[in-house]
Amino acid sequence: MDVTIYHNPACGTSTNTLALIRHAGIEPTVIEYLKTPPDRATLKDLITRTGMKVHDVLRQKGTPYGELGLGPDMPKDILLDAMMAHPILINRPLVVTPKGVKLCRPSDMVLDLLPEGPLPDFIKDDGEPALRDTAVTGDDAGFLAALASADLPADDLNEPGRSFFAFRSLSGELLGYGGFELYDAEAFLRSLVVLSERRGAGVGKAIVARLARRAFDLGGRRLWLMTTTGAPFFEAIKFKRVDRTDAPANILATRQAQGLCPSSAAVLTRPIYL
Ligand SMILES: CC(C)(COP(=O)(O)OP(=O)(O)OC[C@H]1O[C@@H](n2cnc3c(N)ncnc32)[C@H](O)[C@@H]1OP(=O)(O)O)[C@@H](O)C(=O)NCCC(=O)NCCS
Repeated sequence: MDVTIYHNPACGTSTNTLALIRHAGIEPTVIEYLKTPPDRATLKDLITRTGMKVHDVLRQKGTPYGELGLGPDMPKDILLDAMMAHPILINRPLVVTPKGVKLCRPSDMVLDLLPEGPLPDFIKDDGEPALRDTAVTGDDAGFLAALASADLPADDLNEPGRSFFAFRSLSGELLGYGGFELYDAEAFLRSLVVLSERRGAGVGKAIVARLARRAFDLGGRRLWLMTTTGAPFFEAIKFKRVDRTDAPANILATRQAQGLCPSSAAVLTRPIYL
């Protein structure tokens, strides 16, 4: 399979993505785009093929994004001009394979673009395992058993607007489940459970990163959740506790907020950043 990666060797996500491609037995064409940026037409074509808006492929952290006064409502030609003038504004890594083009954040999103089939397990350089996700329904027996073992609500799993996934290691071992409900840009994270023998090894953090990206691709820009016991975990992965009254109306109207979760449950939120 022909694979090209627009790579920044100083970026952990880009380095993990390149390592995952090689882990799959593929030696890609590596373009260090800060040294040899794509021309404008190529960049525009790559972004179009990701299916994302130009602004979604703009990197904000550690770039002149703020200084240049860039924003999501600016015309895409101005954003492209800025990326050409300052290639650090191009988020990384963009990966091209015969299966498509993707901004691979988190890095294991690259697995969507590579041949299917099991691989040896892979641990990223921050200690988290690389994961594959597959959609599950609210009738999935393993999902229901995992929710029951963690005392998490299951009464409304088959109501519309919910997306649930099973998460496996690259060798195919089941590690956990999670999902979200999407209300415009607000993604209500729920039903997160790591199998008890797999806890404490970065799986929960990796699942949240994958769920955030899946929600982002459907228009989600902020994560919300309610939990009675999980707040310390979510605070460790950069969620902030907020007062229940600070949550938007569509989050307060969820079945969980309306009764499935006790009123004493903590409310936590964080933006989705790629
Ligand atoms: C909560 C849960 C998902 C965490 O999964 P996990 O795979 O054990 O967590 P991770 O190993 O990814 O931990 C990520 C970070 O959170 C921290 N963390 C995990 N559990 C924690 C806890 N109970 N208290 C404080 N910090 C915690 C870890 O130390 C780690 O921090 P680091 O990145 O600084 O090292 C898992 O314990 C679980 O399934 N619990 C039962 C169901 C549940 O409570 N779900 C959440 C409510 S929806």
